[in-house]
Amino acid sequence: YETKTPAYSTGDPTSFGWVTARQRWPVIITQAIDDTYRSVGDCDSAEKREEGKKLVNDLARLKYEVQHDRALTPIPDDGYPDVAIYNKELEALGNPTWLNVQWLYCECYLFRRISALFSMSQHWKNYDVFARLKIKTFRSSRPAVLELAHRYKDLVTQMRNNKGKPVDEEAEKILFMEMCEICLWGNATDLSLLTSLTYDDIQKLQGSEARKAAEKNILVNDLTVAFELLLKAKKDGKKYRQVDIVLDNAGFELYVDLILAGYLLSAGLATNVVLHPKSIPWFVSDVLPSDFASLLNALANPRHFYETPTDEDHLQNKTPTPLSQDEADSLSFLFEEWSGFHAEGQLTLRPNRFWTHPGSFWRLPHEAKNLFEDLKESELVIFKGDLNYRKLTGDANWDPTTPFTAAIGPLGPGSGVNVMALRTCKADVVVGLKPGVDEELKAMEGGGGDSGARKWAWNGKWAVCSVSEGA
Ligand code: F6P
Ligand code: MG
Repeated sequence: YETKTPAYSTGDPTSFGWVTARQRWPVIITQAIDDTYRSVGDCDSAEKREEGKKLVNDLARLKYEVQHDRALTPIPDDGYPDVAIYNKELEALGNPTWLNVQWLYCECYLFRRISALFSMSQHWKNYDVFARLKIKTFRSSRPAVLELAHRYKDLVTQMRNNKGKPVDEEAEKILFMEMCEICLWGNATDLSLLTSLTYDDIQKLQGSEARKAAEKNILVNDLTVAFELLLKAKKDGKKYRQVDIVLDNAGFELYVDLILAGYLLSAGLATNVVLHPKSIPWFVSDVLPSDFASLLNALANPRHFYETPTDEDHLQNKTPTPLSQDEADSLSFLFEEWSGFHAEGQLTLRPNRFWTHPGSFWRLPHEAKNLFEDLKESELVIFKGDLNYRKLTGDANWDPTTPFTAAIGPLGPGSGVNVMALRTCKADVVVGLKPGVDEELKAMEGGGGDSGARKWAWNGKWAVCSVSEGA
């Protein structure tokens, strides 16, 4: 169930795993400490406050263990069966230390450790240490959110007015591709990279001009294959046609995922969309069911969301700019659309603990049999983001010209699952490139050169949209 190609390690100085473990994890744990500390200050119950202080200490100890390259210790039994999976694998890895271990395993382990601290407490069981950060970043992506809301409303209104008229397939295809590209680039802005990006940078990544300019940065583009799959199912007259989205980040990325989902339903390219969130706070910004609810809440009352001053506004003596009537209307339109689909059962959330297991998706067929059967029913399973791509490909050191269909192993041809990855590159692994492309990118300024590091693939500037047909 595993690839024979070696996986990236935090002990390899040329891997982004090296930088991640030494520079990014300490920052991420510090953010968790700050957040918990702040919530301790807001506690009215003394008992909860005491327990919160202990959690702050536990997190600080965890940070110490990472920075001092201590051995990974077994995850304490918090009652969830995946503890055994994590601990068995830890043993199999030979009780490694933080800075010299398989990158993918260790990063999953980090978030699972944090989750165990909270889930074993009395008063903080369902506490999400990253929730504050997620909502704050979503609020700061306001310009892109408003631009897209406006366009989405126009588009859906037009589609309604054209109902019954013959459809121009070419135009439909272009629109599908654009929607997927919006959804793709929404992944460039995950919070775990924010340790090095400014909000200005994020906004530049999000507007429509930026998207057009970025098209040349999509190194593999199989979007037309995905479109054909959905169109064929529709033409075959299939009554029930499901598309799955294995979600990545909350906030702006979830927002663009819903834009894509809503569009697929409105255009009749799918009758149902199933969203797969995480079950524990994961890689900082990944979607939990509660993030989906928060997003819909924000849209349900957009003025309240955007016009209530935040703590920072108070500190800087600022008042948020009010929404125009048109802006508020577009956001309310989105809310009506999406909550309508949700109420009708066309847009649903389906959590599964498999998504927060440590291993790669090569294990899906035997580790999560029901989920696997489910995904086979889908016309297309869209895997969003960098981590999902790492898991699809086993986070292994493939030759970059390896076909995507080979690198995803048991989920490739013959699996019965139609897979599409929409991923902006934020790690070392990449497959499906034409010969010479990796070398060209390495030779570019900051691309890594002869250092042996694939630096061009670390910052979300380049992307891949790869499809594998399951038949
Ligand atoms: O920190 C490791 C990592 O997987 C990076 O490769 C990536 O930047 C981030 O976490 C998660 O990215 P995404 O939210 O796109 O999965
Ligand atoms: Mg993520």
